[in-house]
Amino acid sequence: MDHAKCAVVTGASRGIGKAIAAALGAAGYNVVGTATSDAGVKSIETSLCSLYPGSSAMVLDVTSDTSIDEFVARLLDAGHQPHVLVNNAAITRDNLVLRMKDAEWDEVLSANLTSVFKLSRRLIRIMIKARAGRIINIGSVVGSIGNAGQTNYAAAKAGMIGYTKSLAREIASRGITVNAVAPGFIDTDMTKNLAPLHREQMLSQIPVGRLGLPEEIAAAVVFLASDMASYITGETLHINGGMYMA
Ligand SMILES: NC(=O)c1ccc[n+]([C@@H]2O[C@H](COP(=O)([O-])OP(=O)(O)OC[C@H]3O[C@@H](n4cnc5c(N)ncnc54)[C@H](OP(=O)(O)O)[C@@H]3O)[C@@H](O)[C@H]2O)c1
Repeated sequence: MDHAKCAVVTGASRGIGKAIAAALGAAGYNVVGTATSDAGVKSIETSLCSLYPGSSAMVLDVTSDTSIDEFVARLLDAGHQPHVLVNNAAITRDNLVLRMKDAEWDEVLSANLTSVFKLSRRLIRIMIKARAGRIINIGSVVGSIGNAGQTNYAAAKAGMIGYTKSLAREIASRGITVNAVAPGFIDTDMTKNLAPLHREQMLSQIPVGRLGLPEEIAAAVVFLASDMASYITGETLHINGGMYMA
């Protein structure tokens, strides 16, 4: 077990990020979970920090340079030396291309891709000094197979795979691995509002016959963060119930 190493998880207030934070807490990490609001911070404190006292919650908007600066300053002030960064925070702004507004494109690229560059650029400085670290980017099956109505989201998630491979090559010699985990359809707020017909169509494409659980994604993240995964880098681990086999 990796006792007392620090793991930063963005978007830890809900869904997959919440499950990742809990699983890393259970594995012995001091988890710093982030949310965009004070209410989100409170909910992380209730769900995570009460169980794992070494953990903490902080506000972070990954689309704001100021917020990233303040977050990193608070992290360092609190004495944290992040060993693991899980870039999990993301949004959707679905629309068909003909109807998609510039803002819907820009917001998704900013929250789901540019943020990954900006936050990992900051935290790898610390990992390089330590000559050890793990960056785990949460992608999506949609980045590999596409999805009508999600060109912005799919472009961001496909871009994340190229980013993951390139950064992995840049910093492998410093003892830092960079990998992606690409979930299929997982039971969270993000998939809650699917129309019944769309949900049925989606389930028919999943050999396992059900949506995945956030905990099933979290287990893979704990593995990739661990010493057991020290020779895996630049890889994308697909977890989708057989929906897409790379
Ligand atoms: N659910 C799925 O089926 C599925 C499938 C494939 C991939 N994924 C990926 O898995 C990851 C988690 O998805 P999820 O389903 O758990 O999503 P979710 O339930 O909608 O939760 C999203 C999380 O991201 C945070 N967030 C949103 N905008 C942010 C910003 N600007 N700055 C910082 N944090 C922000 C939210 O914080 P607040 O609570 O403060 O808003 C929340 O904690 C995402 O990368 C998503 O693309 C999900």
